[in-house]
Amino acid sequence: MKILGIETSCDETAAAVCIDSKIVSSALSSQEIHTKFGGVIPELASREHEKTLNLIVHKALEESNLSLEELDGIAVTQGPGLSGALITGTSFSKGLASGLNIPILGINHLEAHIFANFLAEPNLEFPFVCLLVSGGHTQLWEVKDFMSYNLLGETRDDAAGEAFDKGARVLGLGYPGGPEIEILAKKGNYNAINFPRAFVKENNFEFSFSGLKTALLYYMDNKNRKNRADVAASYQFAIIDVLVKKLKYAAEHTNSKNCVVAGGVAANKFLRQYSKENIPNRNIIYPHPSFCTDNAAMIAYLGEKYLAIGKTSKINFSILPNMKID
Ligand code: KG4
Ligand code: ZN
Repeated sequence: MKILGIETSCDETAAAVCIDSKIVSSALSSQEIHTKFGGVIPELASREHEKTLNLIVHKALEESNLSLEELDGIAVTQGPGLSGALITGTSFSKGLASGLNIPILGINHLEAHIFANFLAEPNLEFPFVCLLVSGGHTQLWEVKDFMSYNLLGETRDDAAGEAFDKGARVLGLGYPGGPEIEILAKKGNYNAINFPRAFVKENNFEFSFSGLKTALLYYMDNKNRKNRADVAASYQFAIIDVLVKKLKYAAEHTNSKNCVVAGGVAANKFLRQYSKENIPNRNIIYPHPSFCTDNAAMIAYLGEKYLAIGKTSKINFSILPNMKID
């Protein structure tokens, strides 16, 4: 099948084409406008999507050498995400699908992040555990099969990506905070400061990062504080240490050979290296960094899987800003 995927849930405007489970094009525009505000401004995100989406869709089609008329269906992010941003993508997609008289399908952005791992490892086999770490979510999933998922646990407060973003702000770095902290941390000693790690000694799948952010705030008020690179490295280590220990416990608990990591934080090289070193005898899989952060390739890929079994959405389907994985 030839599926066009569209993603506009936050601050990336993205389109991609998937043909028979292979991504043949993936176009994306990252909205720089939010950098100066230190976070995403929802109203500006919608306006940017509206301006850019048509261009990005045409870019993806051009790269795929397909015309609109050759498409078999459209998959678009239905949620979770920012309401206005989601509406721009779904409205555009509904218009396109109606005009072309082809099926449309609303996709769960989180489920698509999990399935981005099949782009890295087409032969990935069920079951597996997935650590889903993005700007809005930190969850551990037992993925038993396509459409059969069991939530093992999640964060009680901030998501891991949010902890990076908030930490970066405290350290006077830019947005998004993850890549900024990662770069500065390379020059620092990750054992310099022992930041708190919530629930790390407990055999459960819960996370909490709000205390860590507060600890960083207090630390930066301390007159005897160490250099910023050491602080960034230690702060990053406190987040990643917890993620890796919980993923290890989930792999053992579910007896899973395959562990996959998904979402924007999965782009972090220290997380990639540290998880591989500390979770022995498991197959640890990460998508290509460009498919960890928001993209439309994962939407098109998952869309094709559902459309292939006849699942479609009604043309008047609504966005779901708080959409969960069932
Ligand atoms: O999946 P994503 O692009 O959007 C959401 O669905 O939320 O994730 C964005 C999050 C941001 O919080 C960003 O700081 C974080 O992913 N992130 C990273 C890295 N790249 C992006 N965190 C740590 N290290 C990175 N290299
Ligand atoms: Zn995302």
